[in-house]
Amino acid sequence: MEPIKIFDLTRQARALKDEIDQALWSTLETGQFILGPHLEAFEAAFSDYLGCRYAIGVGSGTGALSLAYQAMELTPGKKILTTPVTYVATAMAAAIHGGVPEFVDIRPEEGRIDLEKLHDHLTQAKRHGTLQDYVAIAPVHLYGHPEDMARLTAVSDEFGVPIVEDACQAHGGWFPLKDRPKVMAGTAGAMGCFSFYPTKNLGAYGDGGMVVTNDLELAQRVRMLRNYGQKEARHQHFLIAANNRLDEIQAAWLKIKLPHLDTYNRRRREIAAYYSSEFAELPLTLPPKDREGEYSVSHLYVVQTDRRDALQEYLSSHGIGTAIHYPIPIHLQPAFEYLGHSKGTFPNAETFAQRVLSLPMYPELTDAEVEYVASTVKNFF
Ligand SMILES: Cc1ncc(COP(=O)(O)O)c(C=O)c1O
Repeated sequence: MEPIKIFDLTRQARALKDEIDQALWSTLETGQFILGPHLEAFEAAFSDYLGCRYAIGVGSGTGALSLAYQAMELTPGKKILTTPVTYVATAMAAAIHGGVPEFVDIRPEEGRIDLEKLHDHLTQAKRHGTLQDYVAIAPVHLYGHPEDMARLTAVSDEFGVPIVEDACQAHGGWFPLKDRPKVMAGTAGAMGCFSFYPTKNLGAYGDGGMVVTNDLELAQRVRMLRNYGQKEARHQHFLIAANNRLDEIQAAWLKIKLPHLDTYNRRRREIAAYYSSEFAELPLTLPPKDREGEYSVSHLYVVQTDRRDALQEYLSSHGIGTAIHYPIPIHLQPAFEYLGHSKGTFPNAETFAQRVLSLPMYPELTDAEVEYVASTVKNFF
């Protein structure tokens, strides 16, 4: 068997070659590469797919979070409440505006935020009269598993702190919320943020991102923020802002890929279900099962074990690529030293970081490859 990479992006690209070539040339022939018809068409298709009003294409997932926070009026000293177990961008996007990422520890068995601790945290803030410092709660649908949005929304409503969903790992996932059986990840809060980083469930061939919202005013602000603070007319700038746009070629390619997303996600779920059934008897903590009515999208398949490093080495020696998402919880990153955290501040996050291992997960894995990965993991134990 050929080595199996943790991600292989060439297979999907090859399968879509004709459509990708066509989209590229249809863009080149317009001669318009920024803020043109392909972006407009992809934004419309993406908001349609999610069932929300506005979708604004931006330069990356980090850009999406940064602009969403800014649109919510994150100013220096104001806070974003999130988890230390996520890609660093969730917190970084706040810090670059002088905002303060504040963390709540996770539930160790699954890596998502501990909602009781979140509730306690905001209860304390209310007691201290500091609730108005919180611009948003930024939940992360880690590895494609939705946060418990029913409970999270209840906390958000109770304290009046809005939600900015980091849906960068959850394109196409959904959950029930209030009286709606199917709310798409990214559309439950005031704003939702997506990344189209190449390995994502919907991935570009370069960087890309999207902010989604049902709020016209927020949408208008993000449209200005992505484009030097301009409204429609050029050379009139109303906000201090950089250039943070999704380009025409990426938009054209993403529009080609969007209709395949549900099929890709079904295959991811099939692979995840197979891994989980094969690993049921092993001394591993497996990814969380879907809650009632929930549809996770297996962006990554992450197991936990105290023998993580040995398992990783064993798999590597048998030609299987793995990765660690993420080896250092955000509160211990050197860049965030100024926040004053130290080892032991968020013990669950720290233990989690030492135990997680991501196995190969992408829709184009063959059955034989998936079986080989599963049997090699079993052989290790
Ligand atoms: C949870 C999460 N948030 C934010 C990002 C940032 O996205 P990007 O790499 O497109 O800036 C990513 C992906 O890298 C992510 O996984």
